[in-house]
Amino acid sequence: MSYAEQMFSLTDEIAIVTGGAGVLPSAMATTMLRAGARVALWGRGTNHPVQEAVEKLVRETGVSADRMTAVTVDTADEQAVEAAFDQTVSDFGMPTILVNGVGGNSGKGDFVDIDVTAFEQVVSLNLLAGLVIPLKACARRWMDAGQDASVINLASMTSYKGLSGVWAYNAAKSAVLNLTEGAAKEFAPHGIRVNGIAPGFFLGYQNRALLVADDQTGELTARGQAIIDRTPFGRFGKMEDIEGATLFLASRRAAGFVTGVTIPVDGGYLVDNI
Ligand SMILES: NC(=O)c1ccc[n+]([C@@H]2O[C@H](COP(=O)([O-])OP(=O)(O)OC[C@H]3O[C@@H](n4cnc5c(N)ncnc54)[C@H](O)[C@@H]3O)[C@@H](O)[C@H]2O)c1
Repeated sequence: MSYAEQMFSLTDEIAIVTGGAGVLPSAMATTMLRAGARVALWGRGTNHPVQEAVEKLVRETGVSADRMTAVTVDTADEQAVEAAFDQTVSDFGMPTILVNGVGGNSGKGDFVDIDVTAFEQVVSLNLLAGLVIPLKACARRWMDAGQDASVINLASMTSYKGLSGVWAYNAAKSAVLNLTEGAAKEFAPHGIRVNGIAPGFFLGYQNRALLVADDQTGELTARGQAIIDRTPFGRFGKMEDIEGATLFLASRRAAGFVTGVTIPVDGGYLVDNI
C-alpha cells in the first residue's frame, strides 16, 4: 500500500449515507466506495428510489455489488431509523461512518408571509431527519458497543450567513453547524468524531428549480446568476468537488484528531468581497 493509500483507505469501514439517492450524498458515497468502504444507502424510496441509486453507483464505480446495500427508511421516523440500523448491521456488521445527507429547501418568501407549517417541515427535514434522529440512534449504538466512528453532517453557506427568503433553511442549517460542535464535544470521549461539510452551490434535486430557469438551455434564474457572480470560482460545484473533504473527514488515519469542524467546499463563496 502506498502512503496515500494508507492515509485514505476506508477498507475496514462501513458507511451509512442518508438521503443516499440524492446528488451530493451519492457523490460522497462514491468516494467512500472507491476508497474501499462498504456503503449502505438509506433513502425514503419515494422520489429517488435507493435501490436504483445503488445499481447506478455499482455501475459507475465498478465496485462489486456486495459492497453496497439499499435501505428504504424515512429518517424522520425514529423507529424506522432503529430498524434501518439493525438492517445495516445484519447486511454488513457495525457501521463506522454516518453521512447525514438528508436535507433541502423548498420555496422562499418574505418574513411576514412565512407559512408556519412549511417552516416547521423544512426545519424538521434538515435538523431532525437530517441530523438529530440518525445521529442519536447511531451514537447510542456506538457507545453501547464501544465502537469509534465518524459522522459527517451537511451544513451550508446559510449556516454562516443566511440567504434571503429561505428563513427555515437558514435557521436549520445554522443549527447544523452549532450541533456539529456540541455533539463533537459530547461524543469525543467515546471516540466518535462529528464534523461537517458546508457545500457552496451544487445542483441538487432540492434546489435546482431555484437556480436553473431552463434545463434545456442551462439558463439560470436571477438567483442562480447572483450566486455565480458571488462565487470567486465563477461556477457551481461539480460533484467530484465534494469527494476530497469527504474522504479526509471519513479517514481515521487522516482526520483521527479532527472533530467539531465544518469544512466549506464552496469555490470561495465565503471569502468573496468587493
Ligand atoms: N446542493 C447544494 O448546493 C447544497 C448546498 C449546501 C448544502 N446542501 C445540503 O446537502 C444535503 C444534500 O443535498 P442535495 O442537494 O444533494 O439534495 P438532494 O435533494 O439531491 O438529496 C437529498 C435526498 O434526501 C432524500 N430525503 C429527503 N428526506 C428524507 C427523509 N426524511 N428520509 C430519507 N431520505 C430523505 C431525498 O429523497 C433525496 O434523495 C442536504 O442536507 C442539503 O441541504 C446542498
